[in-house]
Amino acid sequence: MEQKLNTLQTEAHTQLSTVENNAQLEDFRIRFLGRKGLCSTVMKELGSVSDKERPRLGQMANRVKNEIEALYDEKRQALLSGLNGSSIQEDTIDLSLPGRKPEKGRLHPVTQIMNEVCSIFENLGFAVAEGPDVEHDHYNFEALNIPAHHPARDMHDTFYISDSILLRTHTSPMQARIMEARQPPLRVIAPGKVYRCDSDITHTPMFHQVEGFLVDKNISFADLKGVLTVFTEKMFDQKLELRFRPSFFPFTEPSAEVDIACVICEGKGCRVCKRTGWLEILGSGMIDPEVFKKVGYDPEIYSGFAFGLGIERIAMLKYGIDDIRLYYENDLRFLSQF
Ligand code: DAH
Repeated sequence: MEQKLNTLQTEAHTQLSTVENNAQLEDFRIRFLGRKGLCSTVMKELGSVSDKERPRLGQMANRVKNEIEALYDEKRQALLSGLNGSSIQEDTIDLSLPGRKPEKGRLHPVTQIMNEVCSIFENLGFAVAEGPDVEHDHYNFEALNIPAHHPARDMHDTFYISDSILLRTHTSPMQARIMEARQPPLRVIAPGKVYRCDSDITHTPMFHQVEGFLVDKNISFADLKGVLTVFTEKMFDQKLELRFRPSFFPFTEPSAEVDIACVICEGKGCRVCKRTGWLEILGSGMIDPEVFKKVGYDPEIYSGFAFGLGIERIAMLKYGIDDIRLYYENDLRFLSQF
């Protein structure tokens, strides 16, 4: 047994001197120090030596095992700190290789446009207010001069939660909420999600709007035109002709739909503007006296304008995209272009 212990020691020394990397070191550990390794095999033989010899051989075996363990630890440290010359080649990083670039995230195009719209109006002195997506019928319709059975309700394709609670179909309820809580002068935009039971290439059941309104003494349609002109110029980075088309909304009188000269064909007529040269971008008007009366403002003293625009629509026009659903399919090949 003494002979075996000596051989074991020499062999361990020899094998360890050839170890150059972690894999070889692990092989060494398993061969010599593992549960079924050479050390434990020799140790087991202690059982069969004579009682007289056992203490001496036991001590010797322990010493050899401790020594092999110490050598192993020393080698492990050396490999870890890279001091061992040969491990440098295998384990260290080649600093001249090109690095791995972390993938950068980005804001969704709809969020980007939303932020841009808000910041243009903030620069014009508008405050930003947010309200609930789950809304009372009262704010979504009644307070906006759309009583029950009014034909305008049909256009909204409303998702009802109960008889009087619904998912807001537009951001206009924020007009009523804010006017009810504050006194003029008011200059507010209300961005957010809105919901309608509708889905095709220009409609998704959830989309985003920004409502804007301004209430003070002596506000006229000219103020509305001025604000919207500045807005469209900033939004599309160019001077754009605007067209105000007479329209109807129950909460504005007079009402107008606003078109811009087509940004794709510059008014010449193309597929996107359906050969008209114009693109509709928002609804607007002077706030109806009925709406003022419902929130306790005197329409003889105050006047104001309001407008509502669809963010996805603006994003589609700005980027020339013809299917709104692309925004919500989460295809990174599409989204990462913005
Ligand atoms: N709320 C209208 C809609 O979603 C858009 C709108 C039209 C808002 C005219 C307004 C407005 O503030 O004056 O269809």
